[in-house]
Amino acid sequence: MQRQPLVIANWKMNGDRQLVTAMAEALRESAAQHADVSVVVCPPAVLLPAWQQAAFYDNIQLGAQDANEHVSGAHTGEHSLALLVESGASMVLVGHSERRQFYGDNAKRIAAKVNHTLNESNLTVVLCVGESAEEREQQQTFDVVAAQLQEALADCNNCERIVVAYEPVWAIGTGLTASPEQAQEVHAFIRNWLQEKFGPSGANVQVLYGGSVKADNAEQLFAQADIDGGLIGGASLIEEQFVAICNAAQ
Ligand code: G3P
Repeated sequence: MQRQPLVIANWKMNGDRQLVTAMAEALRESAAQHADVSVVVCPPAVLLPAWQQAAFYDNIQLGAQDANEHVSGAHTGEHSLALLVESGASMVLVGHSERRQFYGDNAKRIAAKVNHTLNESNLTVVLCVGESAEEREQQQTFDVVAAQLQEALADCNNCERIVVAYEPVWAIGTGLTASPEQAQEVHAFIRNWLQEKFGPSGANVQVLYGGSVKADNAEQLFAQADIDGGLIGGASLIEEQFVAICNAAQ
């Protein structure tokens, strides 16, 4: 099964219109080098319209870093799926560890966001899972990841618009990248879990690695059998770095 390589930039709460213009230009100029790679940028939601304009003629998809689980209403500061779609998003990150840790995204809310997105829109869900340093030290990685997958996907009977991103919390923003072997081991576990849940179609789900992916480690990571690309934080804010990572996924 050949899954299309996928590289997603998670700008988090960073970037500005100037970087939108510069990154769009860098990706345009290098497009031939990563022509077979699906490239997605998840800027802060307020920069989505600027990306829509900057990348209008380019093969760059846009995504949101989160979405509210309600259609609309009195949810100050939140973003609805409809408004994110109108702003150009075709994917949405759900359950990023920073949202689990700091912004109240517990298992119930993450499941609600997954179900709302799959049932009420055509967006693709990028479900983020991953263990803490303590959980890894206590040999709980597989238990934690399996529980996160089960909690989030319990009500899903179709995986067509699901991507999974394995982001070991201890590797996010730390420079401590999981080794290719460590990442591959968990990706193979996730792949097996997806096939047990969804049957043969589970093998088609793209499973991305995130956590200190850089230009100098991307190729080794992406060479692993069950790593289909990356979810990139800090390096996605630097044109040369992000282009090199996209090229490494080709
Ligand atoms: O969502 C991607 C992010 O969590 C990884 O961040 O800076 O370690 O690439 P970083």
